Amino acid sequence: MSGKTFYLETFGCQMNAHDSEKVIGTLEQQGYQQVDNEEAADLLLYNTCSIRDKAEQKVFHRLNDYKKFARAGKRFGVLGCVAQQEGEKIFERAPYVSLVAGSASYRRLPELLQRMEAGEHRVTGLDDRQTEETFETDFTARKNPYRAYITIIEGCDKFCAYCVVPYTRGKERSRSAESVLEEARRIADMGYTEIQLLGQNVNSYRDPSGKKSFAELLAAVGQVPGIRRVRFTTSHPRDFTKDIVEVIDAVPTLCDHVHLPVQSGSTRVLRQMAREYTRDWYLERISWIKAARRPISLSTDIIVGFPGETPQEFEETITLLDEVQYDAVFAFKYSARPNTPALVMIDSLPEEEKSKRLQILLDRQKEIQRINYERHIGEVVEVMVEGYQSAREQVSGRSSQNKPVNFTWAHPIAPAPGSYQKVRITRTFPNSLAGEAVQ
Ligand code: 5AD
Ligand code: SF4
Repeated sequence: MSGKTFYLETFGCQMNAHDSEKVIGTLEQQGYQQVDNEEAADLLLYNTCSIRDKAEQKVFHRLNDYKKFARAGKRFGVLGCVAQQEGEKIFERAPYVSLVAGSASYRRLPELLQRMEAGEHRVTGLDDRQTEETFETDFTARKNPYRAYITIIEGCDKFCAYCVVPYTRGKERSRSAESVLEEARRIADMGYTEIQLLGQNVNSYRDPSGKKSFAELLAAVGQVPGIRRVRFTTSHPRDFTKDIVEVIDAVPTLCDHVHLPVQSGSTRVLRQMAREYTRDWYLERISWIKAARRPISLSTDIIVGFPGETPQEFEETITLLDEVQYDAVFAFKYSARPNTPALVMIDSLPEEEKSKRLQILLDRQKEIQRINYERHIGEVVEVMVEGYQSAREQVSGRSSQNKPVNFTWAHPIAPAPGSYQKVRITRTFPNSLAGEAVQ
């Protein structure tokens, strides 16, 4: 290989974004230098996502578009969920790809890179739910200036009927609480004040040394000196325990926000989805969260048009939205994914019907949010500044509840990104709050 520069593009969730930070750090440690465009790179890497919407086809299209770079002697690597899912098939469809590696193999990246550099053409790092280890590195390249991610658990053992994750990210494995806390302390020393703990299902976290439950780990991270905000995603209702709410109440640095994906409001559909809980079980967890002393904001994920979802069952999802009154909803049309149990279920709902249901749901939720957000008028909330809007006329950031807040300020100097500012809310929208800085 002539030089050692790489270009990396990332698709998908926060787990993927954070994996990329670890991959970048690992490559830099191996003597590579990151560049910001394909032309300048010797090695082109795509960290891919396969959660929905024929994602693998998009990856193949993309690879096809960039064939010209292969002719220029550049190398290609496909990482992430599409890599794990499609495996060696990628070499067949895009013969100029030299590396295919899923996330459960990143630990072996230095070795895989060396084999590629030595001229091996088809280097693979694929894992069939074998890996027991997690991928930890001291070289994580932290690309988000204000929020530091820490993975606490990798993989997933839930096997929801629609989901590729258990096949692409391997089996569940937790990091030791001690190593998580050590990373949190290091992050605080670097000057970060906000930490987001990551895992496909953080509630099934099991400290291998048996010392800390998830709630205890959450509390301990929240007590690391210098840390002002701790978030965590994603929770699973089946494993969500009451002590999580108790530590949010007890530890002020834990943010006022829980993301608890429900997927459907119908118990029958939930059973088909293999979610392992009922509507009532879910609502009981919501009632614990609502009973907290702190105003914990709720958000969720929903799938509309799961195979066999009747109009009445869809309506149950709508009544669930009315009942819970979420502050944010991420809703998706069901999309069939390779290898998943739902693939063999009869997916007879026409695409237009799924789109119609999605629109009905989004419209209803918008109205719920409009009312929820209006309640903040006159409140003073603490905002972590993330950046500026429209020629620095407004500052933007997020509240502890994870709501976007835009505000004006009176001082000659604008609040710095990463700083905290108290803001009085004067206007509200269905997705954001607006106001002015208070001194
Ligand atoms: N089709 C549609 N949405 C899906 N999700 C996961 N798999 C699928 C699928 N096959 C959604 C779920 C999950 C979120 C990350 O993506 O709502 O919580
Ligand atoms: Fe997928 Fe279910 Fe695991 Fe979430 S919990 S990653 S939806 S299998």
